[in-house]
Amino acid sequence: MAQLIRIGIAGLGTVGAAVLRILAEHSNQLELRAGQKLVVTGVSARNRTKDRGVDISALQWFDDPVALARSPDIDLFVELIGGENGPALAAVTAALQSGKSVVTANKALLAGHGMMLAALAEANNVCIGFEAAVAGGIPAIKVLREALAGNNITRVSGILNGTCNYILSRMENEGLSFADCLREAQKLGYAESDPTFDIGGFDTAHKLALLTTLAFGVGIDRDAIHIEGIESITLSDIRAAEELGFRIKLLGVAERTSRGIEQRVHPTMVAKSSTLAQVMGVLNAVSIDADNVGRITLSGPGAGGAATASSVVSDLTDLAAGTTQKPLGLPVASLATAVHMEMQRHEGGYYIRLNVQDRPGAVAAIATRMAERQISMESIVQRHSGPRLAASGPVPVVLITYATSENLVREALEQVERDGFLDEKPQIFRIERE
Ligand SMILES: NC(=O)c1ccc[n+]([C@@H]2O[C@H](COP(=O)([O-])OP(=O)(O)OC[C@H]3O[C@@H](n4cnc5c(N)ncnc54)[C@H](OP(=O)(O)O)[C@@H]3O)[C@@H](O)[C@H]2O)c1
Repeated sequence: MAQLIRIGIAGLGTVGAAVLRILAEHSNQLELRAGQKLVVTGVSARNRTKDRGVDISALQWFDDPVALARSPDIDLFVELIGGENGPALAAVTAALQSGKSVVTANKALLAGHGMMLAALAEANNVCIGFEAAVAGGIPAIKVLREALAGNNITRVSGILNGTCNYILSRMENEGLSFADCLREAQKLGYAESDPTFDIGGFDTAHKLALLTTLAFGVGIDRDAIHIEGIESITLSDIRAAEELGFRIKLLGVAERTSRGIEQRVHPTMVAKSSTLAQVMGVLNAVSIDADNVGRITLSGPGAGGAATASSVVSDLTDLAAGTTQKPLGLPVASLATAVHMEMQRHEGGYYIRLNVQDRPGAVAAIATRMAERQISMESIVQRHSGPRLAASGPVPVVLITYATSENLVREALEQVERDGFLDEKPQIFRIERE
C-alpha cells in the first residue's frame, strides 16, 4: 500500500481553495511523482460555512490555525492566510516547532521573518517551500535555489507585481490616467481597496528581498532596498517614453557590483525591444544573469488562484518526495551579511522630466547645471503640447542622460530647483540598458 502524507491547509481563500481543487484533480499523478499519496486531512479559515467551491465536509475543521499547525494528525502544514504577523506567523512557527515542513505563499511573512523561520526549520530538520511567494506561478525560486547551483549569479531583475504592470500597460494602451487605471484595476479585483502595498513598490520589494538572498547567498534584508512606487507616473511620461523608444516598468533589481549589492525597486525605462518590455498586463517576469548559463528570463502569471496554487502544489510534491533543500538555499549560518550599495552611488542613464517656466534662457541654464557636474546629455527635448501662445505657462522639458551617478543627478536638479526655473518637482526615472 502506498504511504500517505497528511496535509493541513490554513487559509481557504483564492489560493487555498485552488490548492484543494488541484490536489483532488491531480491526485493520481502527484502520488506517482511523490511516491506517497498527498491527502488533505485538516483545514482552517475564519468562516466554516462559506461556500468555497470545493467540498470540505469530510475534513477536520480548525477555528485556530495554530491548533491545526500543531495537530498530530497532519505531517505537512500549508499557510495561505497572508500577513506578515498575526495568525500566519504564529501558525508557521508552531508547525516548524512541532517538526512539520511548511509551504507558504506569503512574501510579507518571509521578508519580515524569513531568517528566523529558516533557522527554525533547519533546527527541526524540516523545510519551507515558498515557490508561490515570488511571481505566483513562475517557478523562479526553484530555478534560483536548485537549477542554477553551478553558477555565480550577478543580477536578478523582474516585473514582480501584476497590479502595477496592469496599470502601466493600460495607461500606455488606452491613454488613461493613473487614477483611472487604478480604479479599473480595483473594480476587476487586481488591486486591493488600499493599494499602497502594490503601487508603492513594497510588495515588489518583499519579493526582491527573497530573490536577493537566493541569488547571492546573503541574509534577507528588506530594509536595504531602495523603494519607489508608480504613483507619480503621468500619461505624458508614458508618451515621452514611447517616443524615445522606451516603456516604463516597475522593476525590482538586485545586482552584485564592485561596491556591494544593489537592491532597488522603482519605475524604470526599458527599451521597447527588450524582453521585459514585452511583458504586459498582469503578467510577471524574472530575469537572471549567471556566469555559466548566461541570461534566463521566465515570464508568466504572477498571481491568481490557479497559477499560485500550481506553485504551492509543486512544493508539496517535492516535500512529499523527500526533498531536504535548505529553505534559503544555503544554511542560514553561512549566509553572508551583505555590503549594501547605497542608491546615491547607482550608475546609469536617467530620464528627467522638468516642468520649466517659459523664460528665456531657462533650458540653457538647466543644460549648464548638468554640464557643471559632467553629466552628458543624450537628448534634451522641449515638449510643447499645443500651438504656442504669447504668454504660455510652464513647458515640459525631457532630458535623457548618458551613464552618470545618482548623486550627481540629484545635486544638479537641486541646483536647478534653487535657480527657480521649475514649476514642480522633477520626475526622474532610471534607464535600464540591456
Ligand atoms: N491571490 C493571489 O493571486 C496570490 C498570489 C501570490 C501570493 N498570494 C499569497 O497567498 C496568500 C493567500 O492569499 P489569498 O489571495 O488566497 O487570500 P484570501 O483570498 O484573502 O484568503 C485568505 C484566507 O485566510 C483565511 N483567514 C484569514 N484570517 C484567518 C485566521 N485568523 N485564521 C484562519 N484563517 C484565516 C480566510 O478565511 P475566510 O475565507 O473564512 O475569510 C481566507 O480563507 C497571501 O499570503 C498572499 O500574499 C496570493
